[in-house]
Amino acid sequence: MTVKERVLALLDSSKGDYVSGEQIATQLSVTRSAIWKAIKTLQAEGYQISAVTNKGYSLSAQTDILSARAIEKYLTGSALDLRLEVFKSLSSTNHTAKELASDGEAEGKVILSEEQTAGRGRAGKSFFSPSGTGLYMSILLRPKMPAAESSLLTTAAAVAVARAIERVSGRQAQIKWVNDVFVEGKKVCGILTEAALSVESGGLDYAVVGIGINIFEPFGGFPPELSEIITSVLTQNGKNGDIRSRIAAEVLSEFMGFYDELDKKRFLLEYKRRSFILGKEIMVITGSESRRALALELDDDCRLKVRYEDEREEYLSSGEISVKI
Ligand code: BTN
Repeated sequence: MTVKERVLALLDSSKGDYVSGEQIATQLSVTRSAIWKAIKTLQAEGYQISAVTNKGYSLSAQTDILSARAIEKYLTGSALDLRLEVFKSLSSTNHTAKELASDGEAEGKVILSEEQTAGRGRAGKSFFSPSGTGLYMSILLRPKMPAAESSLLTTAAAVAVARAIERVSGRQAQIKWVNDVFVEGKKVCGILTEAALSVESGGLDYAVVGIGINIFEPFGGFPPELSEIITSVLTQNGKNGDIRSRIAAEVLSEFMGFYDELDKKRFLLEYKRRSFILGKEIMVITGSESRRALALELDDDCRLKVRYEDEREEYLSSGEISVKI
């Protein structure tokens, strides 16, 4: 870690309180002028650090920095065994998690990043991932299950996200089959599960469940082309302390609870209850073609039964749909 990162971590650990320059210098074994330089750089980067003569430096209690330590404080159940790693910037947390998986990393590694420079969505789309206001994380798993069932990971994650959002924000969260979570008619979260097959077993070698949540509106707002369809869980005004860490921990704890007994599908009824497309007219999108259909029901494998205009019925197990809300 650089001096700047260490100063930030130290101030973050006593957020809201003053720490003297001398104390910081002693603790980090660096000169006071190095501390002063680091503080100036952090302030220029936008961190709210106040400096008061004879008291020292204090990082605003409102600051919300993602760190493994901050998230771990709130983990429960088997999520306590997860190994978290938080980066400042990555191209894509799914990409990093998949690289680790190919290098033999064991199940339970979670990669998070403050921003993604090439965040990926389904069907080759990109996922808007600005710094400091979202949550971008990928959970590496090695489930013993046939590849055909891997969509259960996405559905379990969607319910985990919906629960976490409701618990922390008090706002109602709904699910748009198969991988989106909505609040008040707009998308706040997308989930991208990517998996690799094991040649020996014919089952999964690994799965990476990638979750992206817009927690706050980014500084300067969402890009105009997205602001009609996406929103954030909370407003900047409500921003306080470590809300992103709490939501991350809630998602991970809920998800691992489901994952421990995935075959019991404990999330299924809730997934169906939270699905807002049932009974609605939708468009089923396959490649460049889209067809009007009625969304009829979800079966116990979370496949969506649809009826097309020619009365033909079909079960969809994945794919893109659009719906007018
Ligand atoms: C979608 O909306 O189509 C899915 C979006 C998934 C975004 C998450 S953010 C963390 C992880 N890393 C990525 O590059 N994508 C997923």
